Amino acid sequence: MASMVAEALTAGYRNIDGAQMYGNEEWMGLGIQQYLEQKTPEGPNNLNDLNDLNNSNNSNKNSSKDGEEMKLTRENLFVTSKVDDCNRQADTIRSCCVESLKKLKLTYLDLFLIHSPFDVPKEDWPDIWRAMEGLVRDGLVKDIGVSNFRIQDLECILETAEIPPTVNQVELNPCLRQPSLVEFCRKHNILVQCYAPIRVLLEKPPGSEPFLTRLAALAHIHGTESAQVLSRWSLQRGNAVVTTTTNPGRLVSNLDCLSFDLSEEELTEVEVLGDKTPFRKFWSGKDFD
Ligand SMILES: NC(=O)c1ccc[n+]([C@@H]2O[C@H](COP(=O)([O-])OP(=O)(O)OC[C@H]3O[C@@H](n4cnc5c(N)ncnc54)[C@H](OP(=O)(O)O)[C@@H]3O)[C@@H](O)[C@H]2O)c1
Repeated sequence: MASMVAEALTAGYRNIDGAQMYGNEEWMGLGIQQYLEQKTPEGPNNLNDLNDLNNSNNSNKNSSKDGEEMKLTRENLFVTSKVDDCNRQADTIRSCCVESLKKLKLTYLDLFLIHSPFDVPKEDWPDIWRAMEGLVRDGLVKDIGVSNFRIQDLECILETAEIPPTVNQVELNPCLRQPSLVEFCRKHNILVQCYAPIRVLLEKPPGSEPFLTRLAALAHIHGTESAQVLSRWSLQRGNAVVTTTTNPGRLVSNLDCLSFDLSEEELTEVEVLGDKTPFRKFWSGKDFD
């Protein structure tokens, strides 16, 4: 996995998304280190060396997709992690963030999310969120946000937040559009990050054939693949995309979603067929709207 992280960064990806719950922070850290040094992950072996590396004006460079020279520095990366549900208390958030940083071998995170809102009593949110805000004030994280939050969860946070969440990372794709949640986020200036943007291709839920067939046809029209059409739909609807692959070829080809436009008619067509194929993969059994 470390080498895939390094390959992704070399291919031009900039947002690396991990979580305490996934147990992938150490691997992410190694991959980032490998990329910054452009060599195998042995590299520096103590935190001081790594802090120097993170803060250095490293003169190494690589080429981004559009040919621009991109400096291989920590500042040019965007690293996200998430508070595990078991650490989601006001008095544990700081120590678990420090633990994440140690595992990632970084001095700060660009974005730290609360992984889920489930099973937290409403009255606990103000203190939990204050602890998240403390991370920004102390420079451990640049931005704070949430994941899998419903409108009622966001309302709890916004009631007392001094630093509002910048991101809500949720499962979202044409088969799970959640228009009310997206509208609420937009109104409150919260960026929606879509996870599982292309999962439907893998899962092929019952009744998805017309949807998948049309996606393939649109992909053919635009000289790309169904996965890129799905990611493109999310991007053109104003959301960010978090995707994954274990396949180095797809790592590169999935970036083609940045290179074409779907017409408004095509976007709507994807939505109409997606609405007929309702599908949720993650956190099933939870009480979503
Ligand atoms: N906040 C949360 O609660 C939460 C929950 C779930 C996920 N996430 C985040 O979202 C990320 C993505 O989630 P996800 O795994 O559902 O993502 P996804 O990107 O929608 O789906 C990934 C699957 O799609 C396949 N795939 C990738 N490119 C493809 C292509 N061009 N054609 C066909 N299939 C392709 C991959 O298979 P191959 O490996 O074979 O390419 C993989 O099995 C995760 O890594 C995680 O960071 C967050």
